[in-house]
Amino acid sequence: MPQGRSYIKSSLNSNIILRMSSSTVSTVAIAGITGKLGQLIAKAVLGYPQANIRGFCRDQSKLSPDLSSDPRVTILQGSSDDPAAARKAVQGSDVVICAYLGPNDFMVQSQKILIDAAEAEKVPRYIASDWALDYTKLKLGDLPPKDPMIEIKAYMETKKDIKGVHILNGAFMQLVQMAFQQDPVGYWGSGDEKWDFTSYETCAEYTAAIAMDPSAVGVIKGPFPNPPNPCPHFRQKVPITHTVRGDRVSFKESADIFTKQNGKKPNMKLLGTQAELREKMDEAREKGEIGWPNVML
Ligand SMILES: NC(=O)c1ccc[n+]([C@@H]2O[C@H](COP(=O)([O-])OP(=O)(O)OC[C@H]3O[C@@H](n4cnc5c(N)ncnc54)[C@H](OP(=O)(O)O)[C@@H]3O)[C@@H](O)[C@H]2O)c1
Repeated sequence: MPQGRSYIKSSLNSNIILRMSSSTVSTVAIAGITGKLGQLIAKAVLGYPQANIRGFCRDQSKLSPDLSSDPRVTILQGSSDDPAAARKAVQGSDVVICAYLGPNDFMVQSQKILIDAAEAEKVPRYIASDWALDYTKLKLGDLPPKDPMIEIKAYMETKKDIKGVHILNGAFMQLVQMAFQQDPVGYWGSGDEKWDFTSYETCAEYTAAIAMDPSAVGVIKGPFPNPPNPCPHFRQKVPITHTVRGDRVSFKESADIFTKQNGKKPNMKLLGTQAELREKMDEAREKGEIGWPNVML
């Protein structure tokens, strides 16, 4: 892996932390602001001097004191299944970011309520609760945890006055690093297949930059050989944010990084080929096994 490109360091890449004072975006609504990513996004958004936040959550005591005491943050407590509360939360916003995470039914229903609320309040953009691998290549049922993302993207496409934004950054690199704590840690395939990884922190910075750019709409993934079409504003003013990927590394390369950082080599166990994994996943799905993606572990 090239020196200095380690995904471990991706959150320290100051190039991506660009503050656009010319942005017309001033009010950012964040649903699920108490979550891990939600709080990091809120902090990144506050890096833009003109930005104010409307945070929507069910229990504001979970919010870190620096956010709850910030005069630019307004917290609206309410239930995610209450359309009136959702409408109040997004009122006057330039963009809504959803950072919910929960069971599939919740992800679909709560986001539809939020999208309808945003549409009714004439908010022009909705950043879906994705931050995922490229699920646009999947059909419903291929990978059930991604089904809500497919459904919400399709729902956004039925809307005329509000545009969907879908950030596809790959996996959070902290999660694979956590996996290496297991003994043994299983893997499928050759271990040389490349994966997209981004740290939570870098992802929050990308999301804030995208939120502040009114022209950033559609599927955003990267990096791109050239700046992406959906973000013409980036082309002129933000040379680096046209990527939402920290790095692309294989499982074996990730293990090497882990070893260098922790002085301990993970005990890696080959579980089978990619074709065998596919077979096991298909079998589990046919049997209707709940949590069938666990066959991957
Ligand atoms: N690519 C990856 O590797 C990866 C990995 C993990 C997550 N993600 C994505 O990152 C996003 C956020 O994940 P996260 O790790 O920040 O999740 P998290 O820390 O678990 O936060 C989830 C948020 O959803 C809220 N929530 C959950 N159930 C709710 C309910 N019934 N009613 C109201 N609010 C509810 C939580 O509120 P409370 O604080 O009140 O519980 C919290 O604010 C999701 O879009 C997820 O798909 C991606």
